[in-house]
Amino acid sequence: MFGARCLLRALRFCFSAPCPRHKPSAKLSVRDALRAQNASGERVKVQGWIRSVRSQKEVLFLHVNDGTSLESLQVVADSSFDSRELAFGSSVKVQGQLVKSPSKRQNVELKAEKIEVVGDCDAKDFPLKYKERHPMEYLRQYPHLRCRTNVLGSILRVRSEATAAIHSFFKDNGFVHIHTPIITSNDCEGAGELFQVEPSSKIKVPEENFFNIPAFLTVSGQLHLEVMSGAFTQVFTFGPTFRAENSQSRRHLAEFYMVEAEISFLENLQDLMQVMEGLFKTTTTTVLSNCPEDVELCHKFIAPGQKIRTYAKKQLSNWGADLHTEHEKYLVKHCGNMPVFVINYPLKLKPFYMRDNEDSPQHTVAAVDLLVPGVGELFGGSLREERYHFLEQQLARSGLTEAYQWYLDLRRFGSVPHGGFGMGFERYLQCILGIDNIKDVIPFPRFTHSCLL
Ligand code: 4AD
Ligand code: MG
Repeated sequence: MFGARCLLRALRFCFSAPCPRHKPSAKLSVRDALRAQNASGERVKVQGWIRSVRSQKEVLFLHVNDGTSLESLQVVADSSFDSRELAFGSSVKVQGQLVKSPSKRQNVELKAEKIEVVGDCDAKDFPLKYKERHPMEYLRQYPHLRCRTNVLGSILRVRSEATAAIHSFFKDNGFVHIHTPIITSNDCEGAGELFQVEPSSKIKVPEENFFNIPAFLTVSGQLHLEVMSGAFTQVFTFGPTFRAENSQSRRHLAEFYMVEAEISFLENLQDLMQVMEGLFKTTTTTVLSNCPEDVELCHKFIAPGQKIRTYAKKQLSNWGADLHTEHEKYLVKHCGNMPVFVINYPLKLKPFYMRDNEDSPQHTVAAVDLLVPGVGELFGGSLREERYHFLEQQLARSGLTEAYQWYLDLRRFGSVPHGGFGMGFERYLQCILGIDNIKDVIPFPRFTHSCLL
């Protein structure tokens, strides 16, 4: 067995292998090349895809992008390099000298000494056209190519940055990250929007389930987080979630990412709302400071640090009826077009796990949703029913007593007041970037009648 120390020593040995005799040009990302402060002719190598070509009498200007920044690097070459292959969309490796640019439009440019076309691109057949701003609907037809546009590039960089910021937020606040399963035998939300998991070819005994019991793609990691919150006081998960909702709306997907947290020894909704608000604000602030150009391109973002208000009392629809999208929109607008918490929903509208407020005749549960402009519901959370007998009644009401004995066990053995929430990650991105359709903030959207690639 390789001990960790041996492994490290062996790795060090690998990394100190002898250097080649002549010093090659340093390979730079476009982002690093653009950031070079005092470019004074260093020899560098840059690789990427051509975003624009401009040919003048004696010079050829190329813009090369490698996905590391919105801005492309200007390559200046003499006209002898000009060729049909140096076209919009082609992939290239460029070697040359990084110099200060005489133009005000950019700080640095690359004076090409060698340009290698790695893969050419036939403009006639290429669905992305030079200098054209393609509508989002058009780009959706090309999930394998749309990441090469500026707008998708920006959205996906923000997505990556927001993912890292969310992990940092939880790490900085002492949460333990749990990998909750994707395949599960429970329906956390009880809404029956499940995708069943079965082998594609029938296994030996066709009438038996592969897992002996019916199994599904998870609709939420909450129940598994609740198990973990019996040992760790603060846990979170951030992974793919699946809902077989027959919806093509601009805020629903069949596969989306959810950020979920569960906190033990938590006794009121205010404390839960504080964590939700903290997550939203901290993540947004980090994204805005780490990729301002990308956010600016999408532009209609919500300013961070806005006051998030609690709004619970006003009667919007008949008591006991659920809030629909138009009610959510009304509420957000009514509160000055800013994020708004709605708390204490009627018990009969909500899943079995929410804590009974014992406030008859209304009979509500300690649930909280955060509604945001343009999107509606962004977070859903609640205090969980930690009292054995209350939970037992709720499970009986939903006909789940037998299947959820393990869940009742959590209330038999060291139960504590606790609560948690889930935030739809794509809806979060829609909200901060002002993107109208959820299908444009996920690399490969899955929804009813569509599973491209
Ligand atoms: O409100 P939901 O259904 O809550 C839960 O699943 C809880 N078990 C979470 C928890 O407490 N740990 O979903 C949470 C959020 C919603 O507020 C919404 O933002 C998002 O997930 N969401 C969707 N996003 C995209 N497409 C869908 N079909 C979505 N359904 C829910
Ligand atoms: Mg909800």
